[in-house]
Amino acid sequence: MSTRGQRLYDWWSGHSGAQRFLYGLAFFGREGTFRRRGVEALALEPGERVLELGCGPGTNFDALRERVGPEGTVVGLDYSAGMAASARETVRDAGWENVHVVHADAATLPVSEPFDGVYAAMSLSAMPDPVAVFDATRSVLVPDGRVAVLDARPFQSLPWRVLNPLIVPLFRASTNWVSETDVTAALDAAFPTASVDGYYGGSIVVATGRLDG
Ligand SMILES: C[S@@+](CC[C@H](N)C(=O)[O-])C[C@H]1O[C@@H](n2cnc3c(N)ncnc32)[C@H](O)[C@@H]1O
Repeated sequence: MSTRGQRLYDWWSGHSGAQRFLYGLAFFGREGTFRRRGVEALALEPGERVLELGCGPGTNFDALRERVGPEGTVVGLDYSAGMAASARETVRDAGWENVHVVHADAATLPVSEPFDGVYAAMSLSAMPDPVAVFDATRSVLVPDGRVAVLDARPFQSLPWRVLNPLIVPLFRASTNWVSETDVTAALDAAFPTASVDGYYGGSIVVATGRLDG
């Protein structure tokens, strides 16, 4: 049986125009800039293997694939059947042979081969237990593996914080956002080296963690 979050994202998977609109709001009209920053933060090298948690329709596949090149591998994972189907369509339409899609929950990570990098864009904050997700993530990383997160938080500082009573309920209802989740604290606890950059009153974060300290 599917959860509320899965059903919600199944709906979003059929409404790409609405997705674009919401990202326009969430990224203050600078979606491309923040998406580039998120992928850059992972510092991928040609030939590496990267796993994307909550890949949605595959919006980041092109940028990840560009970094790892034809010798590398991109695996996208999503628990929404609709999103996984859209992601597979993206891969099929583009004819990418080194991009694969897994329909699964990020908390269980049914992948066996190790990854050099794990990426999560706008997805961890929709997961109820990021600590469990980072635990699972560590187990699929190579010894010097790293993780990068691009995500949204409630505004952290004034004057932006006065907007929280408006935007928090809106995004909670529409995206299954677990706004009380502290993704950056979970990252800090799970990785010996972690760094966080915040933008727009701390509402957008680009964070990285490394296993090798
Ligand atoms: C807001 S979308 C982001 C999609 C994409 N990463 C992007 O950058 O546009 C969040 C995605 O995370 C997925 N997701 C949420 N919780 C998940 C979980 N526990 N396991 C796997 N995927 C999950 C949703 O199905 C959805 O596709």
